[in-house]
Amino acid sequence: MGLDPAQGYKTRRGKMLIGTAEDILRSPAAKRYKGKIQLVFTSPPFPLNRKKKYGNHQGERYVEWLGDMALLLKEYLTENGSIVMEMGNAWQPGAPVMSTLALRSLLAFQDKANLHLCQQFICYNPARLPGPAQWVTVERVRVKDSFTHVWWMSPNERPKADNRRVLKAYSKAMLQLLATKKYNAGKRPSEHSIGAKSFLKNNEGAIPSNVLTLSNTRTNDQYQLYCRTHGLQVHPARMQMDLADFFIKFLTEPGDLVLDPFAGSNTTGASAERLKRRWISIEPNQEYVKGSYGRFAEENENKKYDDAKFI
Ligand SMILES: C[S@@+](CC[C@H](N)C(=O)[O-])C[C@H]1O[C@@H](n2cnc3c(N)ncnc32)[C@H](O)[C@@H]1O
Repeated sequence: MGLDPAQGYKTRRGKMLIGTAEDILRSPAAKRYKGKIQLVFTSPPFPLNRKKKYGNHQGERYVEWLGDMALLLKEYLTENGSIVMEMGNAWQPGAPVMSTLALRSLLAFQDKANLHLCQQFICYNPARLPGPAQWVTVERVRVKDSFTHVWWMSPNERPKADNRRVLKAYSKAMLQLLATKKYNAGKRPSEHSIGAKSFLKNNEGAIPSNVLTLSNTRTNDQYQLYCRTHGLQVHPARMQMDLADFFIKFLTEPGDLVLDPFAGSNTTGASAERLKRRWISIEPNQEYVKGSYGRFAEENENKKYDDAKFI
């Protein structure tokens, strides 16, 4: 089974399109998706200090470009839809000083399309290698940069969301409490009073916090094996599958439509497919698109996606 590099591929629930987000989302063919996307989940190309392929923009031009994208993406959202954007920290070239470009870009994105910031998340990766290397491991004048910003935004103050879909397993201590029902109710040192009755109710899991601790340590996954065996470049800036899983479960239901306009290796599409959401992904780099097909290839070979075909 081959891939038509000019067009992309489709699976049972989604399609990967080759092109830039601005070209595809402004094309007449995309119009039918306006007002239909429940979640835009993405990690945009990084604001670069140097110019790269596919017109990655630099500095203030990047801030402006991302702001324009906000207006375009908003047109595609359902009335209770969300946009979740992940962005790492940026550093000034040649100096142990951070750039505020990532934060200014997020603010411009939110501001330009008049979006509410529903909640800000931190995605903490304890397994991240020490960096920026020059300042952290060579000169030892900074500590490890190990988190990314994740902004959840929406035109609606109350977009579709349900934290019961993303409960975490209870800790051992909590499981013991639930089993023994022995709990010291009353005032905490913080002056909060916690009633034993509500606290000892088993809610099938703990409510997660907005600091998501996720390690991206899988090296032998299906995607990387596929890229290696097909001589394709592994995407250098993949996001954690668990991050996509978290927001897709939290903010959508099975059957909803998820869009990733800067899809890279299509982590978002793979997560959506597994979680039974429909998806559309866009990526201009044909090699990344070809590699991302590997996230679905095994299922195709096993005929789990009987109707998987290229478009
Ligand atoms: C940070 S990466 C996304 C990685 C992705 N989340 C993953 O898990 O693989 C950003 C991607 O945006 C793509 N890109 C750059 N400019 C673009 C544009 N104008 N439209 C769509 N995608 C673009 C880059 O090629 C890159 O693959």
